[in-house]
Amino acid sequence: MREQSGLLKNYWYAACLSKELKNLPVRREILETPIVLWRTEEGIASALLDRCCHRNAPLSKGTIENGCIVCPYHSWKYDVEGCCVEIPSEGPNQNRSSKSIVEKFPLVERDGLIWVWMGKDILPDKEPFSMPLGDSSQWHHYYMITLFDNNVTNLVENFMDVPHTISVHKGWFRSEKKVSVPTIIERTENSVEITYNQKNDTIGFTEKILNPKGLPMTHTDKFFMPNITRVDYIFGNYERAFVITSTCTPISPYKTIVYTLISFKLDWFNAIAKIILPFYTRKVIDQDVWIMDIQGKNLQKFKKAEFMSTSVDTMHLYIESLIEWAQQGGANPKPKPMKKDIDFWI
Ligand code: FES
Ligand SMILES: [Fe+2]
Repeated sequence: MREQSGLLKNYWYAACLSKELKNLPVRREILETPIVLWRTEEGIASALLDRCCHRNAPLSKGTIENGCIVCPYHSWKYDVEGCCVEIPSEGPNQNRSSKSIVEKFPLVERDGLIWVWMGKDILPDKEPFSMPLGDSSQWHHYYMITLFDNNVTNLVENFMDVPHTISVHKGWFRSEKKVSVPTIIERTENSVEITYNQKNDTIGFTEKILNPKGLPMTHTDKFFMPNITRVDYIFGNYERAFVITSTCTPISPYKTIVYTLISFKLDWFNAIAKIILPFYTRKVIDQDVWIMDIQGKNLQKFKKAEFMSTSVDTMHLYIESLIEWAQQGGANPKPKPMKKDIDFWI
């Protein structure tokens, strides 16, 4: 999958939460590539291909010794750079074998996540996406981890999709109002950004608590290549805010793990929100897990996607055009930036 991913591999992908990485091997799969991660006692995090270069046993089943990972089969030992530093069967004759190296992945620890660079041909040429943690003590946040049985493209489209909220999340997130929503959709070089001009839109199960003063809500959805969505609900002039940012890590063609950052600033409701929001957001995400699962199964059954679109699907078509261009290796002309006004009913 990594080989067929074209330019999509030349990005940072979230491998795990920072706090998940301790002094023990952790196995992850990204673009069908097995990776072992661990942290030394000094706190240095490392990511190697999960494949010993001797007889290919998975290093993730081994142990950590003095900051090195030790293969479970014949105990070859690798340092954080992936260099083999000890072969027990060679005794003192360590120079008899060439210095074997296991592929090392560039790694950055930022915003509570361990990011791994999956590019093989080029070194990192960009920073990982900056997750919006909030810039003051009024902001709070937490991560949710969810496994979806669908691909990244369908997931980012789902996270940006308003029309499904009145059916999949009926009564939980948004209810049908039978109103028209003027919407601006813009495709840039690397993103798709949507602004909804529905000042009286409401979300959540208890609008009176989320937005007791009935301040106008600004809703924007943004997709950033190749796997990130950010959904902002801003009340008034940032008096209150609720932001959902999702970074999708492809495991295999129809399996994706999503790290969702919930950031909120809800004034006196913060203390209660810290307790009830994790339950509420889990319920809503599980509803998406269900619809993504059954859509994914159908897509695999029918092999070839045949999507019919209306103007409200323009955002999806923009997303698909950017991802497909990168997947094809960037050889074709890049989709041009464009902007479109639409309206849809909700
Ligand atoms: S397979 Fe790893 S040491 Fe032999
Ligand atoms: Fe949803």
